[in-house]
Amino acid sequence: MNALNQIKTVIFPVAGIGSRFLPVTKTVPKELLPILNIPLIEYAVNEAREAGIERFIFVSSPEKQSITDYFKKDKKLESYLKNKNSDLLIGLEKNFISDESLIEVVQEEPLGLGHAIWCARDYIDGPFAVILPDDLIISKVACIKQMINVYKEHKSNIVAIQEIDSVNVSKYGVIDYDDNNKDYYFIKNMVEKPNINDAPSNLAIIGRYILLPNVLNSLSDKKIGFGGEIQLTDAIKTTIKNEGVIGYKFEGNRYDCGNVIGALEAQISVAINNSRYKDKVIDIMKKYLK
Ligand code: G1P
Repeated sequence: MNALNQIKTVIFPVAGIGSRFLPVTKTVPKELLPILNIPLIEYAVNEAREAGIERFIFVSSPEKQSITDYFKKDKKLESYLKNKNSDLLIGLEKNFISDESLIEVVQEEPLGLGHAIWCARDYIDGPFAVILPDDLIISKVACIKQMINVYKEHKSNIVAIQEIDSVNVSKYGVIDYDDNNKDYYFIKNMVEKPNINDAPSNLAIIGRYILLPNVLNSLSDKKIGFGGEIQLTDAIKTTIKNEGVIGYKFEGNRYDCGNVIGALEAQISVAINNSRYKDKVIDIMKKYLK
């Protein structure tokens, strides 16, 4: 069983159709779109690995099995590389997830983020992490690791938060809080995608969560929320009174890679911070900014 202070499991909800990235998402899952040569989902898996997470649950749709295939062994490619290029082979081996650690769950219908998490309920036996791969976070310490540290101190639900421009509140879950202590905001209310006039603050929930299993009880009520979907925000809100929910302002840069401009910014930023590409990217940018 999962000890109360150990977080060894992460859920990746990856069943969404990626409408903001159509047409490419017609056949390529948005989670496999690359930033440089690494797909978004691998950044998410690496973040979880850095935090000591050992079980990876992918809640996917029947059309998106290529996401989990990506983490499995490819015997044909391996034997080809063995004879040709051992460096590439080593790079490839780094991203394998063993059969015991990789769990695939199918979300048959697109009923929302809350429903996706509920679909993984049979595999949850303690506190767990949730990472939305299209929110790419580049930080010194993995964002989910920062949050596990907050969890260890407070033993409540933790959601990542970030200040956003008020005009954008209707794209996010937004929090209201009683009190704050440095980067910790003690949440008293949460609203999924409010109108600009109804938003209780400009502190938005970003796609990282540490949750106690009780949230699954609330999700089993299958209450329909914003957009006709079962919302994770609504389920977490029901735990405020008994377990508490902390909004944690994480250290790091977040890129919304679910839309084209956010992903483009991530490409530029990640490339400029990579010694292999930095100079070439700067030269290219100078050329076009003339
Ligand atoms: C989801 C959550 C929302 C959160 C957002 C962060 O919304 O429902 O509360 O603010 O992720 O990216 P989505 O972007 O899936 O519509």
